[in-house]
Amino acid sequence: MKQNRMNQKALILNFLHSLVQAAALNLGIRHFLVQAAAPNLEFLHSLVPVAATNLDFLHTKFLRERILEETITVKIRNSLNGNKAESIDVTIADFDSVLYHVSNINGDKTKIRVSISLKFYKELEEHGAGELVKQEYGDLLLSEPESGYNVSLVVDMEKLPDDWQSLVKKVGLLKRNCFASVFQKYFEFQEQGLEGQKKAIIHYREDETMYVEAKADRVTVVFSTIFKDPDDVIIGKVFMQEFKEGKRGSQTAPHVLFSHKEPPLELQDTEARQGENIGYVTFVLFPRHTCKAARDNTINLIHIFRDYLHYHIKCSKAYIHTRMRAKTSDFLKVLNRARPEPNKSSSEKKTASGRAFMRAN
Ligand SMILES: *[C@@H]1O[C@H](CO)[C@@H](O)[C@H](O)[C@H]1NC(C)=O
Ligand SMILES: *[C@@H]1O[C@H](CO)[C@@H](O)[C@H](O)[C@H]1NC(C)=O
Repeated sequence: MKQNRMNQKALILNFLHSLVQAAALNLGIRHFLVQAAAPNLEFLHSLVPVAATNLDFLHTKFLRERILEETITVKIRNSLNGNKAESIDVTIADFDSVLYHVSNINGDKTKIRVSISLKFYKELEEHGAGELVKQEYGDLLLSEPESGYNVSLVVDMEKLPDDWQSLVKKVGLLKRNCFASVFQKYFEFQEQGLEGQKKAIIHYREDETMYVEAKADRVTVVFSTIFKDPDDVIIGKVFMQEFKEGKRGSQTAPHVLFSHKEPPLELQDTEARQGENIGYVTFVLFPRHTCKAARDNTINLIHIFRDYLHYHIKCSKAYIHTRMRAKTSDFLKVLNRARPEPNKSSSEKKTASGRAFMRAN
């Protein structure tokens, strides 16, 4: 009888022990999940204001075409150093399937031609891109763009200004300046109180659009952008939330809204992209953003917003995955250690406090 009770007690202890172990494992998993998530959110939150205030980062990353600038700079430095000119033929692909081609005209190595091709150039042209580019680039602009491209500029190595760096920067802003016309036009409508103008819809990517509308007191810009992965929506929301928080800190920041699946009312009955996996980022720009003094900066920031958002989503995901992988391997080590020990001896049992005792046979 006594032995039977001892056996039962041992079984119950064993059972309890396994329960505790299972619970500990569960706690471990929970802990692991929470631990993995918490720093990521923090990371995201900390990243946004840093990036948002670091305009330089934005400018070099998205606004100006760095490779294009470097390519031209090398050529100019070579020429200034008195080296013999060499021919050039470089194609550079940028975001939104934008393509640049840097080459010589008719084999003349002292003339560097920079051409840009934008799939949606026709739409920009309808909003005055041609005039704006002419105004901005003047003599640099070729009246006839290179075949297969929309705008061509030429840098003449024999007529370089002293401040050639500014010239290079200007060339690096070619895409921005093509884009600027749409914003300029609608900012102007707003300034003149011209409501009810035809709204602009730019298909800047195959499946994505940008919508621009002017009212007397505001200009509304809506990006319809695709989220291929449900995770992107979550990260995107955190990111956008941070923009709202940012607004609290700076009274002058524009109003930014983010919605997913539910398109903003403005897009009703328009051909702006709408659908299941589409996220909508709405900017409401007030006269303090659209006035002539602030205009250039507003355009610089807003036209790259879509790329900026997706870039941060990608970076955040890469970061989260690295952390998850590190945590998972840590956790596997814990699991391996937690594997039940083989029975040393079928008669050896442990008490609740872990002390071993021998069954009295
Ligand atoms: C711009 O260039 C692209 C690519 O070469 C071309 O398909 C398109 O027709 C051009 N658009 C205009 C308005 O010239
Ligand atoms: C350990 O001993 C228990 C009780 O005697 C038995 O049920 C179990 O199968 C044993 N486990 C191993 C791995 O031998």
